[in-house]
This record gives sequence, C-alpha cells and structure tokens, in this order.
Amino acid sequence: MAAIYTALRPLLFRANAEAAHRIGIRLGRLGQRVPPLVRALHRSPKDPTGALRLRAFGLDFENPIGIAAGLDKNAECVPLWTQIGAGFCEVGSVSAKPSAGNPRPRAFRLPKDRALVNRMGLNNEGAKAVAARIGGLGSRRTRPLAINIAKTHDPGILGDAALDDFAESAATLLPHADLVVLNVSCPNTREGKTFEDPSAFAPLVERVVEERTRLGLSTPLLVKFSPPASVDFDPGAIDALIDLARDRDIAGFVATNTAADRQGLVRSSTAAVEGAGMGGLSGAPLRDRANALVRHIYGRVERELPIVGVGGIDSPEAAYERFRSGATLVQLYTGLVFEGPGLVARIQSGLLRCLERDGLSTLSEAIGTDCCVNP
Ligand code: FNR
Repeated sequence: MAAIYTALRPLLFRANAEAAHRIGIRLGRLGQRVPPLVRALHRSPKDPTGALRLRAFGLDFENPIGIAAGLDKNAECVPLWTQIGAGFCEVGSVSAKPSAGNPRPRAFRLPKDRALVNRMGLNNEGAKAVAARIGGLGSRRTRPLAINIAKTHDPGILGDAALDDFAESAATLLPHADLVVLNVSCPNTREGKTFEDPSAFAPLVERVVEERTRLGLSTPLLVKFSPPASVDFDPGAIDALIDLARDRDIAGFVATNTAADRQGLVRSSTAAVEGAGMGGLSGAPLRDRANALVRHIYGRVERELPIVGVGGIDSPEAAYERFRSGATLVQLYTGLVFEGPGLVARIQSGLLRCLERDGLSTLSEAIGTDCCVNP
C-alpha cells in the first residue's frame, strides 16, 4: 500500500487538494467493494496479545487509530477504513440541511510544512442522506462508528434556530452512531463564531442531551475543541468548557480541530501561505499545541472522560506521544494526505515497538504517563 501511494502521490498532488481528495474517495468506494483486493494491498501488523486493543466509551476498539472527521464527510467509505486497519472512524461533519460549502478552491496543501489549509465550509449531503447511507450498510457497517454533527452552514441560522438545527441532526443521526461528536469548534463557517463560548456551549449540550433522552438512547456524546494558540495557553476558557461538559453528561473530548491562525508554519513561503487564504490549518504545525491541550485536559479529568487526540499525528512517535499525554484514542487526517493509507499500519507497528522498548504489555498502560495530574 505504501509503495503504491508513493508512486501515485505526485500524480494526485498535481490535482488541487479537493480534487485529489475526491479521487481518493472514489477509488476507496470502488476498492471497498472488493475487500480481498484491499486486504492484499494492505498489511496490518500482527498483534497476537492484543496490546493495542482497548475499551473506551463502553465500546471495544480493535486498535486505537481512527479516521478524523472531514475525510469521509458523507460516510461513503465506512467499510474501507476498517479494511485499511483503522480501529474506528468518525464521519462528518454532517449538518441538518445539506450544504454545498464555500466557493472553490477551498483546500490547499503546504507540503513544506506538511500542512493543509481548508475553508470547505461544512459541505455535506445533510443528516437524512448520511443516515440513509449508514443505514444501508447493513453488515458492512463497521464499528465503532462516530458521527460528527455541526450546525448547518447558514449565517441566518442563529440563536434558538441553531439549537433546533443541531437537535435535528442529533435526532436523525444518533440512532446510527456508536458515538456522536459535537463539532463546537468549526472555524471555517462564514459566521466565524463557534459554540466554544460558554454561553452558547451549555445550551447546545443540554439540547442534544435532551434529544438523546427523548430517543431513549445512551449514545456517548463527545465535544471537539479548537487548538490553543500556543503550547503555554491560558487554561481558563477551556477549563470552563471542560467543567460545563462534565456536569452535562458529556462522555469525552476530541482535541483538536483545525486552527484559525497560522502559528507553526515555518517553511512555507509567505506567498504560499497568503495564496491559501483564510481557513483552518491542519497537520504538523498543530502537533505540539494539540498535544499540550490533551495533556491539560487529561490533567483535569484523568480517565474519567477519555480524550481522542488529533492534530499533526503523522508518525508512530507522534501517536505514542499523544497517548502518553493522555489520549485514549487518536485520529489522522493530514498525515494520511502526505503519507497515504499505509500510515495506519505504520503507526500500529511503531506503537508495538514503542511498547516493547518501554517494557509495557498494553498501550493502555502508556496513556497519560507523561502527564502530571493536577491535584
Ligand atoms: C477537517 N476537519 C474537520 N473536523 C470536523 O470536526 N468536521 C469537519 O467537517 C472537518 N473537515 C475537515 C476538512 C479538511 C479538508 C481538513 C484538513 C480537516 C478537522 C480534522 O478532523 C482534524 O481535527 C484536523 O485536521 C487536525 O488533524 P490533522 O489533520 O492534523 O491530522
């Protein structure tokens, strides 16, 4: 798989980032119909003792490496992610109403920094279509499956209407999900505001919890945060959200989404950065601050509320670091764009080597070992 991607990458990178992504999704849709073909191309490492297996959110994970939101917004490739060895996937963001997103071009590579900038603007087919697709998977619906929901990309939907919009997505998608992630941090909608303001956050969480109760479900709800501006951020604002979440039956956190700023871009030319324009920054420049936020959250909640670590994970070392900082699961997006789908297996093999080196028999033992827990 790695060799094929290395050969294909120059061709894919000739297309703009969104077109290359579409090609990847189309190939994935075709490939997943022939599982023996994908399996023949893909080699997952052997894990005879189940060192990478773990349980979180009441669910069993074959391994803790997942696919981040945004890569498969419309749940087109759910079986494929398992076939390439991912332990879980998060589809979405899905909104109540379908949305075409922002005008193109809206996704850009900054290869010198192993980063992307996107202002997709929550393009997706809408909750009903995605629910129908997942429902139609039948036995091909792999688990665990997380669905990320966001407010419909429409600046006219504000206040109570925004809560109704979120609640509609929750009602449509909760019955199809093993986990639901509330995207409270999407930085690239035209409104530019997020639900990370505590006065917006609390009513949103309450409304979605209410919807879940009405449906008689107990699906774990997670919230996805923005990255901090730097590694030594002031924790006041995030602590307020963590505490609000804990008091409102949130089961865990996803840290982090893309960054609205351009911190950490060191190699790309000014012209390349300016050429990309506005949008969310992802990839290697997020690594340290996403890691810092995971450490901080873990310090506040320990294992009581598990953390899904995401942002700049593109190697086994980066993944292992995130677990040691307190993540129970990790996710990949930009790393897959630069390294290809073989990255999932490479991280798994690397993690097994790290465990052996450190004399640990399971990855669970490594979680949070780099983190000083606050008294
Ligand atoms: C994203 N991401 C994202 N997140 C989310 O919650 N909903 C979404 O719809 C999207 N869409 C999206 C599109 C594109 C093109 C990218 C690159 C990213 C954010 C993603 O899930 C992840 O949080 C960040 O990209 C950080 O991880 P990586 O990319 O550094 O591994």
